[in-house]
Amino acid sequence: MTTTATTIAAVRAEVAAAHGRGARVALVPTMGALHAGHLALVARAREVADVVVVSVFVNPLQFGPKEDFARYPRDLAADTALLETAGADVLFAPDAAELLPVGGTGIRVAAGPIGDVLEGRIRPGHFDGVLTIVLKLLHVVGPEVAVFGQKDAQQVFLVGRMIAELDVPVALEVVGTVREEDGLARSSRNAYLDAHGRALARAVPAALDAAGSAADRGVDAMVAAAQGALAGEDGADLDYLAVVDPATFRPVDDGYRGRALVLVAARVGGTRLIDNRFVHLG
Ligand code: PAF
Repeated sequence: MTTTATTIAAVRAEVAAAHGRGARVALVPTMGALHAGHLALVARAREVADVVVVSVFVNPLQFGPKEDFARYPRDLAADTALLETAGADVLFAPDAAELLPVGGTGIRVAAGPIGDVLEGRIRPGHFDGVLTIVLKLLHVVGPEVAVFGQKDAQQVFLVGRMIAELDVPVALEVVGTVREEDGLARSSRNAYLDAHGRALARAVPAALDAAGSAADRGVDAMVAAAQGALAGEDGADLDYLAVVDPATFRPVDDGYRGRALVLVAARVGGTRLIDNRFVHLG
């Protein structure tokens, strides 16, 4: 049975009881509107820990003033039912007054230079907001493991750097992207897409597939192949297409050899879609 905790004190009591039994605790941080991608995180959390805490909190700190905070999908009843089925032990669902200090002075974790590129260039301050709330959740819950999805590749990279550079005592577990049958990455924002947008959105994973197929011809060929796949789709506006070294998140040039990460972000109608894929440049 999934226990719901809405206060910091309540979730800490659950975790203290688990630790008192010698249990290993995993935290799966989410913003709710749960789907198969989140359930894969919960499933992995159950494999690596004895007690799984899932947080649901639509974090206002990571939304820009013109972004979709107000309309971000929220359905705590549906999330609770899904978590029950998935075997999560604790749902931590605080409201903003509980998690964000009233009268706070705006203290933030600074994501640094990699927080300002790609997603961070399009969404200024986004990663400061993400890291601030993730660090706070880690302090509040105190898990041994934190489970994140590779779908948000830059987020995962920055959370990993934060854990390493601030010596946060938690292990990071990363789970591969869960996709729809046609390849579209599962995302809570897919709910915004109408049937036409849904068809156009297929260009995003298709661009990554095209890049992967061109990997033996180098970075420039990969970028050209991905751009070609996106160019065919009227209505899909590219925000960025980049190939980075996964160890540094810095762009790689045409002579690069080894493991690389291809990242794409595009807008379909009003909906932003991001996706990524690892490739090997031999
Ligand atoms: O990936 C998300 O859903 C959010 O960015 C996170 C990690 C829950 C922080 O608000």
